Amino acid sequence: MAENDKDKPDTQDHDSPANPDNRISLERAAADDEHKADILAHPTGEAEGKALHKPKRTGPRTGKRRAGKMVEEVGSTGHSWDGITEYDNPMPRWWLWAFYATMVWGLAYTFFYPAWPLISGATQGLLHTNYRKELAADVQRYDDANSAVQQRLASADLNAIASDAELSNYALNAGRAVFATWCAQCHGSGAGGAKGYPNLLDNDWLWGGTMEEIHTTVTHGIRNTADPDARYSEMPRFGTDQLLEDAQIDQVVQHVLAISGQAHDAALAAEGATVFADNCTACHAEDGTGDRMQGAPDLTDAVWLYGGDPASVTQSVHDARFGVMPNWSTRLSEDDLRAVSFYVHSLGGGE
Ligand code: HEC
Ligand code: HEC
Repeated sequence: MAENDKDKPDTQDHDSPANPDNRISLERAAADDEHKADILAHPTGEAEGKALHKPKRTGPRTGKRRAGKMVEEVGSTGHSWDGITEYDNPMPRWWLWAFYATMVWGLAYTFFYPAWPLISGATQGLLHTNYRKELAADVQRYDDANSAVQQRLASADLNAIASDAELSNYALNAGRAVFATWCAQCHGSGAGGAKGYPNLLDNDWLWGGTMEEIHTTVTHGIRNTADPDARYSEMPRFGTDQLLEDAQIDQVVQHVLAISGQAHDAALAAEGATVFADNCTACHAEDGTGDRMQGAPDLTDAVWLYGGDPASVTQSVHDARFGVMPNWSTRLSEDDLRAVSFYVHSLGGGE
């Protein structure tokens, strides 16, 4: 406490060494004396119909004064932890009533809703409903409301969806929901992709960006074993299977860096051009721009599925990647497949 605060009345309910004449303490001590005298004068405490813990009030009652009295007069439960004793105060009345009210409510609830276990099942409740039934009814209501547009979507010409206001509006909304549920884990909630999981926002497509191509990719998936119509191709594991020597891999990696416009070793890259022509062009094309029939990425642009730095490119060539996407035909209905394809198509890079 600052020196010049010394004379101000202390509002704290404690004895501060910096404030020896604590007003509260003095007041409390005076009250104690008065109380003691009271007890001595009426040894039974009940003589005048007054309980001991309700001493005669003298002077204005202040919150602090009252707190001080409670500390002295309420009995202890006998519990004490580290010198902190627990006083035996009654529960506040409002609290008790609130507590009883929750009991009544809880008990009543068990009669209105399914609750009490029986030998098989449970009591059904007076309302004859439960949240599962309500949910099912809600879902049914939405399905009924949407079934016409869903049927139309499932059989519409894929390229006609965009020009039909009702279909495209429904497909966008339903597609967004399907995407958030089934696709975002891998492609990101904003469809921006991640390492190994393509960005679906750009116009750089591995397998094609028309409505038909996207619909095929989503329906059958990529390199999975579940769907015989899945898109499939397999880049050889040039290092792991010793199809190329390490030196050749270094050379072809420098060539990839060169055609993608990055810093490279010109001498190695020149050797690498030959390695590339002999081993890579069947899929990535002579100029390295890739082939959508085989899902082989364009190696000349700045868009990378697994990374364009020398270490990542080396790993791609050495081990190959074999990215897999599940087929969605068994999990999603035809209208949902179309809706999510339309949504992906609309994200910006659709062709
Ligand atoms: C388990 C992870 C995973 C999930 C879930 C997933 N994908 Fe994919 N998806 C991939 C991978 C990996 C690829 C790239 C495979 C490759 O290398 O060709 C891919 C590729 C694609 C492509 C092709 C992109 C291109 O450039 O041609 C489309 C379109 C696509 N996914 C859409 C979806 C949709 C729509 C969903 C949800 C219904 C979905 N994906 C869910 C992993 C996933
Ligand atoms: C049989 C077709 C095929 C051949 C041959 C092939 N690739 Fe690939 N390559 C692919 C496919 C498909 C991918 C897509 C990655 C995957 O498997 O998920 C790919 C991916 C890559 C990637 C990763 C690109 C990225 O965006 O991260 C690099 C780098 C690459 N190939 C380089 C090469 C080089 C260099 C050769 C020749 C030594 C080669 N590939 C030969 C099909 C092929």
